[in-house]
Amino acid sequence: MHREEVNDETAVPAGDVAAGFQALIDSDGRVEPRDAMPEAYRKSLIRQIAQHAHSEIIGMQPEANWISRAPSLRRKAILMAKVQDEAGHGLYLYAAAETLGADRADLLDMLHNGRQKYSSIFNYPTLTWADMGAIGWLVDGAAIVNQVPLCRCSYGPYARAMTRICKEESFHQRQGFEILNTLSHGTKAQHAMAQDAVNRWWWPSLMMFGPPDDASPNSAQSMAWGIKRFSNDDLRQRFIDMTVPQSEALGLTLPDPELAWNDERGHYDHGDIDFTELFEVILGNGPCNKQRMEKRRGAHEEGAWVREAASAYAAKRRTRQTAAGSAA
Ligand SMILES: [Fe+2]
Ligand SMILES: [Fe+2]
Repeated sequence: MHREEVNDETAVPAGDVAAGFQALIDSDGRVEPRDAMPEAYRKSLIRQIAQHAHSEIIGMQPEANWISRAPSLRRKAILMAKVQDEAGHGLYLYAAAETLGADRADLLDMLHNGRQKYSSIFNYPTLTWADMGAIGWLVDGAAIVNQVPLCRCSYGPYARAMTRICKEESFHQRQGFEILNTLSHGTKAQHAMAQDAVNRWWWPSLMMFGPPDDASPNSAQSMAWGIKRFSNDDLRQRFIDMTVPQSEALGLTLPDPELAWNDERGHYDHGDIDFTELFEVILGNGPCNKQRMEKRRGAHEEGAWVREAASAYAAKRRTRQTAAGSAA
């Protein structure tokens, strides 16, 4: 065989790429970075993984807001660990996006100039300590329901990153539940604070599953590619079914008078979700969009010297290793 035939991977006809790729997806196999894949699949994954990574690091902000005001040393240590976990999730995910040929610096630029989004849930303010409980219980809880199926998604590096992330998210959810449980069974004022936080976070957490199925244009393709396994509405229903009994255990109510068990469906019925609010927040008109982006851009600028130092150190090590290699 001629060398060119071995090395020229780009010469694989597009039809062969599509057929080989589809066979892999149909057999529920994993696509790995070196496998040929349709360009649209690669681009769609980069967009999704980047948006996910951005959400992890922006999501650090509303909770970091309470680290210095946590009510005890124990709570402070737990909250710090949780916020650090979110930074780690961002790291796994940016690394997963890089396996698709994306450049991390470009992805961050797109976050900073508004060309890529992050989850709208992080554009809501954290007004009281009870919000730490409601975020852990509801926001991390919704994230788990969304993300567990991604552990089986067709792209290997993303699926493996999600397996690690989901383990940590379940700790986050439990710590949120525990905060609310303590407040709910504490003083009258603490119970009221917990109830108020749940009232504010319930509807936004339902919107984390995205628009309803009939208004979700990318879902069908994403499901055909084995990236998404369940529809937005199915996942939302799963979250509601899981959360209602937990709210009863907490002694807190959910702010939806229409929530009721439906024996026939085997699910909870719920009231209409006001998606106009979600679309407003996506457009940048949520309560904290501006503040979150300003803080993120500021953190990026302040961290420039760290990135420069790390690159200089890596370059120095490479030079030393090459010198040692050629001397040996
Ligand atoms: Fe996370
Ligand atoms: Fe989390």
